[in-house]
Amino acid sequence: MGSSFFEEDCDYLFKTVLIGDSAVGKSNLLSRFAKDEFHLDSKPTIGVEFAYRNIKIRDKIVKAQIWDTAGQERFRAITSSYYRGALGALLVYDVTRRVTFENLRKWLHELREYGNRDMVIVLVGNKSDLVDSREVKIEDGQSLAQLEDLCFMETSAKDNLNVEDAFLQMITKVFEIASQKSLEAKENEETKKVIEGKKEIIYVVDEVSATKQTSCCNG
Ligand code: GTP
Ligand code: MG
Repeated sequence: MGSSFFEEDCDYLFKTVLIGDSAVGKSNLLSRFAKDEFHLDSKPTIGVEFAYRNIKIRDKIVKAQIWDTAGQERFRAITSSYYRGALGALLVYDVTRRVTFENLRKWLHELREYGNRDMVIVLVGNKSDLVDSREVKIEDGQSLAQLEDLCFMETSAKDNLNVEDAFLQMITKVFEIASQKSLEAKENEETKKVIEGKKEIIYVVDEVSATKQTSCCNG
């Protein structure tokens, strides 16, 4: 199965990833977004799983390929391949377990080490429905996001709160960067054509790496 299978019915195909500690609710956020399903008794993810969803942004069809990674430590050896080519990430913690918030430093470090320089990162505090067992205040999430220049949202996969918003915010930002990039590529191509006379230049759009990320929702 070649990549054309996925490309024929969409204008853009983006790889994005879900990361964060085990049991913060990554798989349920994805099943909520992709299939509108929630499972109280879901099993830890083994390795990596995928889901796709097509989204219309302006007049373009964007296919988001979302990699759902295992949060458990014993799967971390294959990390760098998760990040390769990913343009967006949902970095998830559990508002009822402080340790998952503390571990965000480690995840951010990994994202910056292996991820694309312009990767769009949305910080997500999940399980906002569990008001009585909350251990992380919304303000803590907000200030970390501000400090690290990330988008931020609290969600509940269970009650379907902000799930759609979190994914759409990430995908829309990736789209904006990519379309800006292809515009610049086109302009470059035009310039080159003018400089080099009538000779055709075929310009291959690289991974999004040179464009500057626009400032985020909390800024
Ligand atoms: P790994 O695959 O091990 O990395 O875990 P994960 O981050 O994919 O967690 P998963 O989605 O499997 O959810 C773990 C547990 O949390 C499950 O029992 C879910 O039902 C529960 N859960 C997930 N999201 C929510 C939520 O928004 N609210 C509540 N109350 N429970 C949730
Ligand atoms: Mg999982």
